[in-house]
Amino acid sequence: MAEIVFGFGTSHGPLLATPPGEWDLRGAVDRRNPELAWGDATYTFDELARARGPQFAPANAPEVRAERSARCQAALDALGREYASAGADALLIIGDDHHEWFMTDIQPAFSLFHGASVLNRALTPEEEERQIANGVGYAMKIYYPPRDEIYACPADLATHMVKHAIADGFDVTACGQQPADAGLARRLGHSFGFIYRRILGDLRPPLIPVMVNTYYPPNQPSPRRCFEFGRALGRAIKAWPGAQRIAVAASGGLTHFVVDEDMDRRLLAAMAARDHDTLTSEPDIHFRSGTSEIKNWIVLAGLLAETSLSMRLLDYVPCYRTEAGTGSGMGFAIWR
Ligand SMILES: [Fe+2]
Repeated sequence: MAEIVFGFGTSHGPLLATPPGEWDLRGAVDRRNPELAWGDATYTFDELARARGPQFAPANAPEVRAERSARCQAALDALGREYASAGADALLIIGDDHHEWFMTDIQPAFSLFHGASVLNRALTPEEEERQIANGVGYAMKIYYPPRDEIYACPADLATHMVKHAIADGFDVTACGQQPADAGLARRLGHSFGFIYRRILGDLRPPLIPVMVNTYYPPNQPSPRRCFEFGRALGRAIKAWPGAQRIAVAASGGLTHFVVDEDMDRRLLAAMAARDHDTLTSEPDIHFRSGTSEIKNWIVLAGLLAETSLSMRLLDYVPCYRTEAGTGSGMGFAIWR
């Protein structure tokens, strides 16, 4: 029987790959954003700055940004060491797609890749230009390789998981081939590339990509459905007759682009305490924009509820890049 031996959750936002002296590159994008989601309302940048008051000036001081950036890098290094010591044979990553692999033509709520490999391809010059204009010029070098990389996938286990999830009440979308446009493969989402290229070092474990539509209306699954989907994934792994040791991870979050430390701490505490009611009863409207990626962690919490592993928070670091409190709440946790 396959065994779930290790879990981790990590943020993957661009500030994790951007020198703290350059965080204003992404701040400039926030200032142009007319739809900043916070709580159950939506703000322009100026409206948000007025609503939140002057409290974020100290957190934007260069020395504070530098200290918080260093804490994030230390936590990412620690995740790499923890992963390496777990001795896993394969890695399942729960990530959201950011219109990389899926576009507006089809956007599955939950999908699982069961092909033989995925390509994390190098960006085209045009894609690089767009990334730079979007303030993620540094991050794209972490998300995407300079030359194409291929990650093997355990097709037999993934196919079993699709069948098991369906028998278990989850009609998950089965994705057997990386989509392409005019012969150019669509990008493997940076939910996955960030973990392979920043956390795993030289390790290239077989990958099971699980994609959750956290972002795009109208079919984002609810927190409760995410949790239950995670439980179904956990049961599917445990029912696999192979002897593999499986690691599982969630990629993304926490609150962004408007940081909400209360929400981040509330949900991290609920995960650590296995307080599944708190986790699944957070109002769905709180999970919008980048903050929606916390749902990947909720899937993970459901999956790990099928094990006896317990969570340890490595660090929670609110990283601010403007006076309106935009940035990213960065979370790093392991389950052993
Ligand atoms: Fe993301």
